[in-house]
Amino acid sequence: MIYGSFLAPIHEYTDLPFRLLCQKYGADATCVPLVNSAAIARDAAKISGVDAHPDERNVGVQLVGNEPAHIGKAAKAVSDAMPFVSWMNLNCGCPMARTVECGGGSALLRRPALAVTLLSAMKKHSAAPATVKLRINGDLAGTAALCRQFERAGADFIIIHGRTPAQGYSGRADWELIRSLRGRLEVPLVGNGDIRTAAEGRGRVENGYCDSFMAGRAAMANPMLFCGRAPQGVGGRFRLLKEYLSLHRRYLGEPNLQDVKLKALNLFKAVPDAAALRNRIARAHSEEEILEKK
Ligand SMILES: Cc1cc2nc3c(=O)[nH]c(=O)nc-3n(C[C@H](O)[C@H](O)[C@H](O)COP(=O)(O)O)c2cc1C
Repeated sequence: MIYGSFLAPIHEYTDLPFRLLCQKYGADATCVPLVNSAAIARDAAKISGVDAHPDERNVGVQLVGNEPAHIGKAAKAVSDAMPFVSWMNLNCGCPMARTVECGGGSALLRRPALAVTLLSAMKKHSAAPATVKLRINGDLAGTAALCRQFERAGADFIIIHGRTPAQGYSGRADWELIRSLRGRLEVPLVGNGDIRTAAEGRGRVENGYCDSFMAGRAAMANPMLFCGRAPQGVGGRFRLLKEYLSLHRRYLGEPNLQDVKLKALNLFKAVPDAAALRNRIARAHSEEEILEKK
């Protein structure tokens, strides 16, 4: 089990350089989001699209799918090609139509027997610990029943986002449910939902809600969150953006403009009176224009 802070997997956001940035600023574990198990099972060369790297500490790879043979093959392919990957994760929480319509993500909450078979396939074929990330399955009883089944199938730890799939991101994450769930499980529980600071996350752990905490959206705006710091003003955010870009060039090559804009807009989201700056970023035609000091 990895104790401490986890960066949440965020599709098309938490790429290798962003994960390394969060790691530099204290994230104890990170996760490659939504790797399509069917695509890898059909064509093993697709593993090259998984951007995990040996320089990462405690990196996980999250598989999505609904076919045990695909999950097994993909877990083995990741294990063989990337022995440094510390944990594998089964996505049982994604509420997006594209995932649910294919029977994966949160659709698996309605098919617990299949979800557990998928976890078993992952466990059998992966050298790394097998884990699950899920949302609330109706209520505490439904969530605990499913998690106990994952436990019996060999889940090494479980990550819970304290909302139901139907909630999307509305309302608040139900931390009381997370705490009660922890009391009913034997494996460690990673709690997730609405954590804004490292102090808040540590408080959840210290007060018995969970064994480790995971933060997503707050880290998009502040990748330094994990060490309890925040970038100072506009200058501090530009410095973080440049750090991200330099990691991108070092590990993945030239970043594309859309990605630079996305990262910059999230970094500047929390800055008061920065509407003009955000407008300039959104309309920029080049990275230089984004980084220009005006
Ligand atoms: C844009 C976006 C993309 C996400 N992509 C994934 C994903 O690929 N896999 C996953 O398990 N969760 C995904 N999530 C959910 C987050 O991992 C996390 O569970 C959720 O945002 C709640 O945590 P937070 O309140 O700290 O953001 C995504 C969330 C957002 C906002």
